[in-house]
Amino acid sequence: MTQPQPDISGPVEIAQDIYWVGNRNDKGFESNAYLRVFRGNGKQFNLLIDPGPSPDFHAIASKIEHVLGKDYSLDLVYLNHQDPDVCINTVHFQRHFPKLQIVTSEDTWRLVRFYGLKEKQFIATENFKTGKIRVKTGHQLRLIPTPYAHFRGACALYDEEQKVLFSGDLFGGLTTSTNLYATKEYWDGMKTFHEIYMPTNLALKKAVHDFRQQTDDLEIIASQHGQIIRRDLINFFMAKLETLAVGLDLRDDSRLVIENYINAFNDILDKVRTNIDETIVSNLLNTFKSDGTFPNRLIVKNDKIYSLKVTVEEAFRLFATELCHSLSIDQKPIAKAIVIDTIADWHITTETPCPGDNPDEHQNNMQEDMLEEGESSKDTAIDNPLDFEQEELDNLLDDLMGNN
Ligand SMILES: [Fe+2]
Ligand SMILES: [Fe+2]
Repeated sequence: MTQPQPDISGPVEIAQDIYWVGNRNDKGFESNAYLRVFRGNGKQFNLLIDPGPSPDFHAIASKIEHVLGKDYSLDLVYLNHQDPDVCINTVHFQRHFPKLQIVTSEDTWRLVRFYGLKEKQFIATENFKTGKIRVKTGHQLRLIPTPYAHFRGACALYDEEQKVLFSGDLFGGLTTSTNLYATKEYWDGMKTFHEIYMPTNLALKKAVHDFRQQTDDLEIIASQHGQIIRRDLINFFMAKLETLAVGLDLRDDSRLVIENYINAFNDILDKVRTNIDETIVSNLLNTFKSDGTFPNRLIVKNDKIYSLKVTVEEAFRLFATELCHSLSIDQKPIAKAIVIDTIADWHITTETPCPGDNPDEHQNNMQEDMLEEGESSKDTAIDNPLDFEQEELDNLLDDLMGNN
C-alpha cells in the first residue's frame, strides 16, 4: 500500500502536538528524534524524545525552532537507552538550556552520565511509582520497560492522549529511501536491524506482549531509527517481530559452510564478469561497501566478497536480490544458469536458489521476471526452483557456454 509521504525538510506533525524533528541523509541508517509539546492548565511543557547523534544536531535544532519559535526552551529530555545515537545531543541541548531535565532508567543513567550530563537534573523512571509521568499540563505518559531490547534498562514511552508509542530501537530499521512512513516493504530493513542488534527473541516477545497489554488503540509506533509505523500496519509489524529469530537465536554457520558461500559468490561474480558484463559486478560490489553508518552485511575487499556479517541464507538473499536488480531481462536467464551451476558446485542447497527468488509477493514478481518464456518451465521453477530437469539444465549451461 502506498502511504502519502510528507516533506521531511522541515518538522512533520505525526500526531497532534507531536513532531518528528529528525534528520534524513539517505544512508540507510537514519535516526529519529521527536518533540512533544504539551499545552494545558495555562502552561506549556516541551519534551524532546531521543535527541539523536551529533551530526544531526543542526537539523534537529532548526526543526524544533521551526515548531516553537526562536525564543523556545526545552523542559525535559527522555532517553530510551544509553547509545550515543540516542543521547549525545542531550549534552548540547543542556548547554543551551541549563535547567533541562532528563528522565531515563537507572541502568541507562549509570552509563549516560559519562557523556557529561548533569547529575542533579536526572529523574529515574523507577521513581514514577505508578509507571506514569504526569505532566503539569495534565497529560500522562506511560513508561513501558523493554528489558534487553536491546539494553537491559531500555524503556519505551507511550503517549496516552495521542496513542503514540516511542519505542526506541524496537521497530527501528534500515531504509532504502527517505520516506518517513512505513509500508510493508520496510520489513526487510527492520528484520536485518533486529537480527544484528537484538540479543534474543525472548526480549522481543516480551516487549510486543507488553505493548499490546499496555497500549490501547495504538495509532503510531515512532521508533528511533527508520520509518514510522501507522495504525494500519501496526499488527503486521508486531506479529512479524514477536516471532523473529535474532542474535543468539540465529544458529552459527560452520566455517566451511561460510567459506562455500563466499567462494560461490565470488565464482558467480567472476562468471558474470566474463559472460555478461563487468560493470554489473562493480556496481554490485559497490552496493555492499559501507559508508561507515552501519556494519556491512557482506564485506568486500579487493573486488571480492571477503566475509559475511549475517547468516549464509540472509547473505544469499541479499546477494541474489542485488544481482537481480542489476540485470536486464535478457541477462537474467544467463545469470540464473550461472547461479544454479555455481551453487551446485559448492554443495549449497538453498530455498533462494535464483536471483530475486523469495516467497513474498514482491520477490515472486522478480522471480517471474527471471524465468524464461514458456509456462512449463515457469511452473516447475516456481514450485521448486532447484528441481530442474537435467536436460533443461544442460540447455541452460549450453547457452551459457555458447554451445548452441
Ligand atoms: Fe541502541
Ligand atoms: Fe539506536
